[in-house]
Amino acid sequence: MENEIKILSDIISRRRSIFPASYTEEPIPVEVITAILESASYAPTHKLTEPWRFIVFRGEGRIKLGNELARLYQLTTPAHQFLQKKYDSIIEKASQSSCIITLNVELHPDKLPEWEELASLACAVQNMSLTAEAFNVGAYWSSPGMIADLKDYLNLGDYGKCYGLFYMGYHNEVPRAAKRTPMADKIKWVEG
Ligand SMILES: Cc1cc2nc3c(=O)[nH]c(=O)nc-3n(C[C@H](O)[C@H](O)[C@H](O)COP(=O)(O)O)c2cc1C
Repeated sequence: MENEIKILSDIISRRRSIFPASYTEEPIPVEVITAILESASYAPTHKLTEPWRFIVFRGEGRIKLGNELARLYQLTTPAHQFLQKKYDSIIEKASQSSCIITLNVELHPDKLPEWEELASLACAVQNMSLTAEAFNVGAYWSSPGMIADLKDYLNLGDYGKCYGLFYMGYHNEVPRAAKRTPMADKIKWVEG
């Protein structure tokens, strides 16, 4: 029991957002990606709607996704704000990644408000992040403005919505501590 708590809290505290610039070229095997996705299934889900939906982009698929994100960036950015450097970095991030998973939900407006489905997705993504960490796979949740325009590319349908991109890759980063302020500042105890 003590050992379980130690393992779990180590993984939770060790997990950091790891960005594509730190990824190596080593591909992540499909079995590892599948195990990471399987862990999402155990997230809490009100009314058991299981709203999480994922699309895995690997190989040429991830390159095409990067190109589409860059195209959407250019399309939705006024010419005077457009930065070629940013456009290029969107494409580069995709090629540096071993895999990109789009983080989508299937909404059930007759059953639940959107925020509950989003909360459930976030729990699922945290499970994925922790499982990735246990596999020494680097990952991070990215939420660029372009995801709002990705619906057609992803064929999400009337109730589908994309909330982010989960970039993944093996990496060579040295462990770094989390930047957080003390938890005690955010807790009130009521005992009487
Ligand atoms: C919903 C969500 C969206 C995020 N979007 C971005 C993003 O667009 N770009 C980015 O650099 N980091 C993004 N992050 C990662 C945060 O920057 C990161 O979690 C934060 O800096 C704390 O670092 P840590 O994850 O290593 O503890 C996002 C995180 C969450 C939960």
